[in-house]
Amino acid sequence: MLYIGVDLGTSAVKLLLMNGEGQIQKIVSREYPIYFPNPGWSEQKPEDWFTQTMEGIKELIAEADKSQIAGISFGGQMHGLVILDKDDQVIRPALLWNDGRTFEECDYLNNVIGKDKLSQYTANISFTGFTAPKILWVKNKEPENFARIAKIMLPKDYIAYKLTGVHCTDVSDASGMLILDVKNRCWSKEMCDICGITMDMLPKLFESYECVGNVTQEIAKELGIPETVKVAAGAGDNAAAAVGTGTVGEGMCNISLGTSGTIFISSKKFGVDKYNALHAFAHADGNYHLMGCMLSAASCNKWWMEEIIGTDQYAAEQKDITRLGENHVYFLPYLMGERSPHNNPNARGTFIGMTMDTSRADMTQAVLEGVAFALRDSLEVAKSLGIKLERTKICGGGAKSPLWKRMIANILNLKVDVIESEEGPALGGAMLAAVACGEYESVEAAAAKIVKIIDTVEPEPELVAKYETRYQQFKEIYPACKPLFDIIK
Ligand code: XUL
Repeated sequence: MLYIGVDLGTSAVKLLLMNGEGQIQKIVSREYPIYFPNPGWSEQKPEDWFTQTMEGIKELIAEADKSQIAGISFGGQMHGLVILDKDDQVIRPALLWNDGRTFEECDYLNNVIGKDKLSQYTANISFTGFTAPKILWVKNKEPENFARIAKIMLPKDYIAYKLTGVHCTDVSDASGMLILDVKNRCWSKEMCDICGITMDMLPKLFESYECVGNVTQEIAKELGIPETVKVAAGAGDNAAAAVGTGTVGEGMCNISLGTSGTIFISSKKFGVDKYNALHAFAHADGNYHLMGCMLSAASCNKWWMEEIIGTDQYAAEQKDITRLGENHVYFLPYLMGERSPHNNPNARGTFIGMTMDTSRADMTQAVLEGVAFALRDSLEVAKSLGIKLERTKICGGGAKSPLWKRMIANILNLKVDVIESEEGPALGGAMLAAVACGEYESVEAAAAKIVKIIDTVEPEPELVAKYETRYQQFKEIYPACKPLFDIIK
C-alpha cells in the first residue's frame, strides 16, 4: 500500500509518497506566500495551504497506482490560529507560530492569570506564538471577527477538515495551543473560560496515529483516489519530525534545523521544568516530550545568504569556513524575537565582535554558530533537569550542511546521528498514516522498521573545548543586550 505524508511548513508544503516498507517513492513541494503586515507579525492564508496541498498531491501521485493509496497524514507548522465561521469559511488569515503581536495578551496570561495556574491547567506558560494568546488578541483587537468564530483549529487540521469534513486535531499539536491539559490529553475547561470560548468551538481530539475519517467523495474524485483512503490526525511538525527520525519512546533527542530550530526530547513520563522554559507537550507516539524552540534557525542563514550577501550558493559560501572554534564574531539569531529559553518577542538579531580584518566567511560562520549556541541554551535547560543525552538525530533543511552538523556536534557535545532521509515531518506524517491503516502496530514499531541511521558525526574533544569557551562568551551577550532590545523595539 502507499501512504502520503504532508509537511505543512511555513515556506512551503512538502509532500512525500511512501510504500508499506517505508521506502520513499517521491517528494514534491509547493510554496505559498507569508505576509508580515507589521513588524513581528506573520500570517498565511489557509486557503493557500489547501490549494497548494491539493496541487502537490496531484503531482505526487501522478505516476503512482492510485488504487494502492491507503492513507494520508500530516506534520504541520504548530500554534497557528485558524478560525472558521458557522459555514466553515475562514474568517481571517492565520496568525502563525512566529507571530509576536500578542505581547500584551501573554503578559495578561502569565502575570494576571499567573504562570502557576497556566502550568497547572496546561503544563505550559504563555509564549507569544501560542494559540491561546492569539485568541485573546482577536477578542481584544478584532471583536467583530471574534463574534463570528464557530471553530478554532491549527494549520494542518484545516487540511484534514477539507479532506474529510471532520473538525479534528491531535494531542501533540493541540499541546501548543495552551488550551490542552497535556498530562491528561484532554481540553481544559478553565483555559476555554480564560480565552472566552466554548468547548464546542474546539476540534475533536485524537492521538496522532488515529484515523479521523475517510476522504470525502469529492476529494476522492478530484484526486482520483479510492474513497476508502483514511486520513490520520497527524502531528505538530516537530512531533512528526521526531517520528520520522525515530525519536520515540524514552530519552531520545532530535534537532530540527528548519525555519525554526528545535531540540526535542522524547519521554515515556510526563514532566515539566520548574520555570516552564521548555515546552511540555504530548508526543505523537502516545507518550510525551520536552522541547525548546528557537524562532529563527535555518531562516537566519537564508536571510544572511539571500537577503544580505545576495547568493544562493550555500555550500560554496561555507567552503571558506575553516577555523572552527576561533571566531571572534558572534551572532544572536533572534530575527523574529526569541521563544526558548528567553521568551522575549523584543529580542533582535545582533552581530558583535567584528574588527577590520573580519571576513565575509567569519560573518557566515557566526550565523551558523549563533544558531547552534542558541540551541545549546535549550539543551542546558534540559541538562539542569537531570536529563542526560549522549546523542541526537538531526533533520530539516539545515541538516544538509556537513559543516553545520559538525558545529552542532561540537557546540552541544552530542553525537549527531544522520538519518537516511532528512525529511522529518513529511516522513513522520506518512508513518502515522501507515500506523492508522494497520500497516504497523504502533509508532515505535514503524520507527524501528523504517528509520535508518547512515552516519554519525562525533564531537572532537579539542573542538568541544574551544567551543565551550566560545559558548561561555556567547551566553553573556543576550543579557547585556536585553535592556537595549526593550528600547529599540
Ligand atoms: C514549535 C514551533 C515551530 C513550528 C514551525 O513550537 O513553533 O517549530 O512548529 O513550523
